[in-house]
Amino acid sequence: MEDKLKELEALRRQALLGGGKERIDKQHAGGKLTARERIDLLLDKGSFRETDMFVTHRCTDFDMDKRKILGDGVVTGYGRVNGRQVYVFSEDFTVFGGSLSKAYAEKVCKLQDMAMKGGCPIIGIKDSGGARIQEGVDSLAGYTDVFLRNVLSSGVVPQISAIMGPCAGGAVYSPAMTDFVFMVKETSYMFLTGPDVVKAATHEDVTFQELGGAMVHNEKSGVAHFAANSEVECIELIKELLSYIPQNNLEDPPMVECTDDPNRSDPELDSIVPASPIQPYDMVEVIKRVIDDGKFLEVHAHFAKNLIVGFARLGGRSVGIVANQPAVLAGVLDINSAAKGARFVRFCDCFNIPIVTFVDVPGFLPGTAQEWGGVIKNGAKLLYAFCEATVPRLTVITRKAYGGAYCVMNSKHTRADVNFAWPSGEIAVMGPDGAVNILYRKRLKEAKDPQALKSKLVKEYTEKFANPYITASKGYIDDVIPPRDTRRRLIEALEFIENKRDTNPPKKHGNIPL
Ligand code: HXC
Repeated sequence: MEDKLKELEALRRQALLGGGKERIDKQHAGGKLTARERIDLLLDKGSFRETDMFVTHRCTDFDMDKRKILGDGVVTGYGRVNGRQVYVFSEDFTVFGGSLSKAYAEKVCKLQDMAMKGGCPIIGIKDSGGARIQEGVDSLAGYTDVFLRNVLSSGVVPQISAIMGPCAGGAVYSPAMTDFVFMVKETSYMFLTGPDVVKAATHEDVTFQELGGAMVHNEKSGVAHFAANSEVECIELIKELLSYIPQNNLEDPPMVECTDDPNRSDPELDSIVPASPIQPYDMVEVIKRVIDDGKFLEVHAHFAKNLIVGFARLGGRSVGIVANQPAVLAGVLDINSAAKGARFVRFCDCFNIPIVTFVDVPGFLPGTAQEWGGVIKNGAKLLYAFCEATVPRLTVITRKAYGGAYCVMNSKHTRADVNFAWPSGEIAVMGPDGAVNILYRKRLKEAKDPQALKSKLVKEYTEKFANPYITASKGYIDDVIPPRDTRRRLIEALEFIENKRDTNPPKKHGNIPL
């Protein structure tokens, strides 16, 4: 037995070295950690249990049978993050550039199956040159096996991807189908086709970072939800995210002890909305004043900033926040913000996280770029997502809720549970200026002093519609509340609806306008 134990120990030591010391040094010199160092940072000390350490590839072409490395380019296993079980796979760039073979894919698939059966989140740390070229179609088959499991797991267990190096070619579709994509600035990039192919196809000269760096995917494409300054920061962010979400779709999110007084009143909120309806203010400040300890994990913070989404707690309960941002484009909804909001609402609904919506929206963004780009179908995504959601849903209208955007933003009519407005709420089919132009076009044209008439008519319209009481009189909002009481009223409402039961009609699945 002693010999056999020695043999086991030697094999383990060999596996821990991955592609060898030289390649590990190169990884470090490039400012990156190794696959195993990343797992160590993520998991509670000593909790990692590796699976399939002895797997090797089965390729015989290109002399590959002479180049076999234990584990074959991906470290897989399970462990705990702050005491809660997670499954994790971490791609090892030191082994064939982290490229995916059939055997490697089988390791990941096994883990995906285990995570789904066990009802635990799965985290993939990506650092790979894509399909292992030597394996040909076997590698494509392996990728597709992983993709299939991404789809089957979607809405069953949370799936998180952290891009910490190259994520090229086939490697991109798996993270794209997970719930949240984290990227590390400077050292990570994602693209389907690299700069050389781009140059050949379109004659564009781009660097890896310009084509698919962290900020490109956080700001422009929206593929990524978080941009971290370092791998360490990235892993801390993943842990923070995990703290808000449940293990699977059958569980509720973890409740934490609340040290912030649930009855805390905030008089500053009474004056946060400016007197002028066109003056901006920062909705993040409103959110932070209302939630527990001002602690807000903003998701997609760099993308479509006119809509804010993220996680917070109210009275110790996790909530998903969706809010218009009057400080950016006056909080208008557009193609990107609607798609961003829809995806977030659907995540919260999958995983039993109540949604709290703060509304100050002048409508949808006009213009050919938006209409031709499909603002109709993208706006419809957000509407669809809210209508479909059966989790507890609360709304606070802080100022404008105009037109279609009123309907979309978690209105009572979409089955929201408790809808409040502040006294500064303005709920109407459209803003006073536009409405007067349409209603009185002829009178204004014929008037001796059209400007004076318009001011008078705008004033009349504003007095009639720019308040929350007409909507309240019809029961479309449940109460008009002093802003200072928002925290208390939301926490109370959440307690009352925590056992909410709502269903959608039985069907195979709906057909959200994609
Ligand atoms: C096999 C690969 C590989 C791959 C890298 N390597 N990518 N081996 N298949 N896809 C190997 C290299 O040969 C090298 O081996 C080692 O990994 C490190 O790679 P380097 O090129 O030296 O590293 P670096 O300079 O840092 O460049 C990283 C890189 C580059 C930019 C990712 O390796 C690269 O361009 N790789 C190919 C990217 C790509 O086009 N992938 C798409 C594949 S097709 P040695 O032995 O020299 O250390 C695809 C389609 C699938 O994925 C579609 C499925 C739906």
